[in-house]
Amino acid sequence: MQDMTALRAAVTPASVPSPEPVRVGLLGLGTVGSGVVRLLAENRDAIERRVGRRIELGPVVVRDPNRARSVQVPRDMLTTDAGAVLDDPSVRIVVEVMGGVHPALEYILRALRSGKAVVTANKDVIAEHGQRVFAAADAGGADVFFEAAVAGGIPIIRSLKESLAGNRIRRLAGILNGTTNYILTRMEREGVNLDQAVAEAQRLGYAEADPSADVEGWDAARKLAILASIAFSSRFLPRHVYREGIGAVSHRDIAHGERMGWSLKLLAIAEHVEEGVRLRVHPAFVPRQHPLASVHDTFNAIYVQGDAVGDAMFYGRGAGSLPTASAVVGDLMEAVRFIDRGGKGLSCTCVYRIPALSMAGSASRFYVRLEVKDRPGVLAQIAGVLGRAGVNIESVLQSPVGEDQAELVLVTHRVAEERMARALRGLRRLESVERVAAAFRVAPEDL
Ligand SMILES: NC(=O)c1ccc[n+]([C@@H]2O[C@H](COP(=O)([O-])OP(=O)(O)OC[C@H]3O[C@@H](n4cnc5c(N)ncnc54)[C@H](OP(=O)(O)O)[C@@H]3O)[C@@H](O)[C@H]2O)c1
Repeated sequence: MQDMTALRAAVTPASVPSPEPVRVGLLGLGTVGSGVVRLLAENRDAIERRVGRRIELGPVVVRDPNRARSVQVPRDMLTTDAGAVLDDPSVRIVVEVMGGVHPALEYILRALRSGKAVVTANKDVIAEHGQRVFAAADAGGADVFFEAAVAGGIPIIRSLKESLAGNRIRRLAGILNGTTNYILTRMEREGVNLDQAVAEAQRLGYAEADPSADVEGWDAARKLAILASIAFSSRFLPRHVYREGIGAVSHRDIAHGERMGWSLKLLAIAEHVEEGVRLRVHPAFVPRQHPLASVHDTFNAIYVQGDAVGDAMFYGRGAGSLPTASAVVGDLMEAVRFIDRGGKGLSCTCVYRIPALSMAGSASRFYVRLEVKDRPGVLAQIAGVLGRAGVNIESVLQSPVGEDQAELVLVTHRVAEERMARALRGLRRLESVERVAAAFRVAPEDL
């Protein structure tokens, strides 16, 4: 028979939660807020034993207290008055999961200045106003955590800030928007066009009625600005990110890419080169054997290349109620630990001022699809335009698509952006070229 006393000692933590609870105010009870309430209830025992404190949910601020909710919260805890959280001295931690910039930013600043720790999932606020948020945190001697603001449940923020902090990061390449990844996956697997895939994403609740923030790459650009600021310890804003969305992608490009052993992804890339940091979000063909090519559906991934760690990939769910709540609750527990320790967590880590570079000066291989007149001499004209612009062709594939029309798919050798832009302008001017249907970059060879 087992020694029950020894067994009990092994499973019982040395310290049990103190009776003094930490009060937490919640701003927002939508997708993420409901997940937070659910997780705090379902894993209460483990969470409280791990932080050694009871966590007590205080007021919950919503727009409409009478709305039906997916989680049970006593009606008298719901309020439309943010002051119930922000002005209550017994609330030590504010969880902001209401979204949007205003009034979320003002609420976050108010909470921090009055010394309350803030946990937020708000990428818009952190990407655009991070500097003000950190200044308020310093002024109030309070902590701010935002793990859920990038890639939902994937623990990338703290990994970059702490676990990988001893590295010089050379490059980050991520799939940071689950909606566009879902759309590209549908197009690849089912051969549907962009509109059909967007409609399917909307039907399943993955895309908004107006999907432009995702499809045009704005969402990924904000997340990339946050990640790059941490990875390179210098503040970058969404406006520093070169951005192209997936609006011009056709299932024909995806099919051609497949034949060449590539998968098309909306990549968010941050690279540290000699002159500075270049940030870009655009569709890119990724070799099928690369780990990023196997990131499908709504999943997110971040591929980190550091001088010490080498290559590391973080993969998981970038959105959803419980995956995002996983990150929020992890931050909340860290905030409780800092309250108990009496110290302060890592604040702003932007200690350098590194220039943000434009795309000029960068070089890539390009995939170009042209619709041309099917007649003798056209290929020579196209080769002439490319040659004069200094673009070398690696391969050409020609296929007839109608009576007197042909489709040409060219892949170039690595070429500077300016040269490629000049070549595309020249091709558009050719009478024999009916349309430059697509021009996408191929992911860097050393990714
Ligand atoms: N959804 C995800 O998977 C996900 C993933 C990562 C990060 N995030 C981020 O998490 C945040 C919340 O997203 P969500 O999807 O949970 O949003 P949501 O479902 O729209 O919920 C927003 C909540 O905030 C409340 N609210 C909004 N504006 C308010 C105001 N002015 N005053 C009082 N209450 C207000 C709403 O009240 P009512 O319920 O009464 O309308 C609702 O409960 C956003 O910053 C988002 O970018 C979301």
